[in-house]
Amino acid sequence: MTNKIGDNFLWGGAIAAHQAEGAWNIEGKGLSIADVMTAGGNGIPRKITQGVIEGEYYPNHEAIDFYHHYKEDIELFKELGLKCFRTSIAWSRIFPKGVEEEPNEAGLLYYDRLFDTLIEHGIEPVITLSHFEMPYYIYEKFGGFSNKEVIPLFVKFATCVFERYKDKVTYWMTFNEINNQADGQDPLHVWTNSAMIIEDETKKEELVFQAGINELIASAAAVIEGKKINPDFQIGCMMAYVPVYPYSCNPEDMMASVKANERRFFYNDIHARGKVPTYALKYWAEKNYQIDISKEELAILKEGTVDYIGFSYYMSGTISTLEEIEGQATEDIQQAKIVKNPYIEVSDWGWPIDEVGLRYVLNTVYQRYDLPMFIVENGFGAYDQLTEDNTVHDDYRVEYLSKHIEQMKKAIVEDGVPVIGYTPWGVIDIVSFGSGEMEKRYGMIYVDKDNEGNGTLQRLKKDSFSWYQKVIETNGEKL
Ligand code: BG6
Repeated sequence: MTNKIGDNFLWGGAIAAHQAEGAWNIEGKGLSIADVMTAGGNGIPRKITQGVIEGEYYPNHEAIDFYHHYKEDIELFKELGLKCFRTSIAWSRIFPKGVEEEPNEAGLLYYDRLFDTLIEHGIEPVITLSHFEMPYYIYEKFGGFSNKEVIPLFVKFATCVFERYKDKVTYWMTFNEINNQADGQDPLHVWTNSAMIIEDETKKEELVFQAGINELIASAAAVIEGKKINPDFQIGCMMAYVPVYPYSCNPEDMMASVKANERRFFYNDIHARGKVPTYALKYWAEKNYQIDISKEELAILKEGTVDYIGFSYYMSGTISTLEEIEGQATEDIQQAKIVKNPYIEVSDWGWPIDEVGLRYVLNTVYQRYDLPMFIVENGFGAYDQLTEDNTVHDDYRVEYLSKHIEQMKKAIVEDGVPVIGYTPWGVIDIVSFGSGEMEKRYGMIYVDKDNEGNGTLQRLKKDSFSWYQKVIETNGEKL
């Protein structure tokens, strides 16, 4: 048992292709579902348009133009001391519509250059296959992952990039936050992972379960193919963990929290254990949901389990059944509400800030699956103020991150949880997924661009840059 963070610990940083690359329609890239999301704002939802509409502003089209700036950005990552860097591959750069027989060589070459540059700088690429994007054509033609015909298309894409980058990438993840099946605007859009627009609201939950199962089959089939290509691959899942605490020790609150957490565990239970959990089978039967899943598909799920649990952690939630407590009703757990936790502050976007929740997740999830854990997202979105000396004094970000790392250390050192690495989200400022803003910033590197798309794209180091540099240099001793 270790009494400190191991020497091979992967200190890193994370972004996603569509939130950073820009270059949305060059070198053969096809339109992706992320390319039709307009800019929203703090509390203002993004719109999903039918195709690209003139006059609308789509922040991902240029993003921070990482596509053309990756060399200078990787220089900065090297200076920061990153051991790994998490990003994703834009599916529509490789298969523009998703249905082509042959991949787009220009797209493959771009990721060759990117991964080679990272490796030359001693930074290990950690790659997500699908981070909230797929070719838009797949939505138009098949209705996204509601359709089983999309499973082989994903597996073809996965196999192609596994084969191409088998000597460059070891750590992979299949779907980003697979349990995040919404985009926060119109409740009938289930866009992020599934690309579905639901016509009949009463069918929504059943359709989301079906699409989720289809994605899980696609993920397992990709794991099986990946292991044939390189048995040393480490292929993980990626979950958004928002643990739900009981508001009180009232047994009804305790049970409500168990039920709410089941919804978080559903995807991971299948990814890690290779079978549909009994609580889900019961729920489907009770609701009379007809989830199509064949014997062959069940065998794929069983075989294609993951090697590690990748997850994002930003916040915890709290649930109550007590009548006197104000809160927002949950649809799934009758009589229960999501309520404010009186012990926890929230960010400017209303996200609860709870560092102990990270230790809680590391412990409970590890105990459930007995698999290594990889914190592939954690961070603090905030309004940053650029000062006259061209920097940002982001002590609030340092405070958030250092408190979370402290809790991660406790989980490793005191609780014995094996943690592969830590890649804070948006190590460089990128477009916010939820709001489409540039000014919801997470980075240690500032990018000069505003919510309307103005700016020079110049990169500047924030105070958190030198702080994180020290953290990595001392392997987490100095926080
Ligand atoms: C995670 C996503 O949900 O949270 C990222 O994997 C996203 O894509 C991140 O950017 C932070 O959310 P937001 O809405 O603040 O960008």
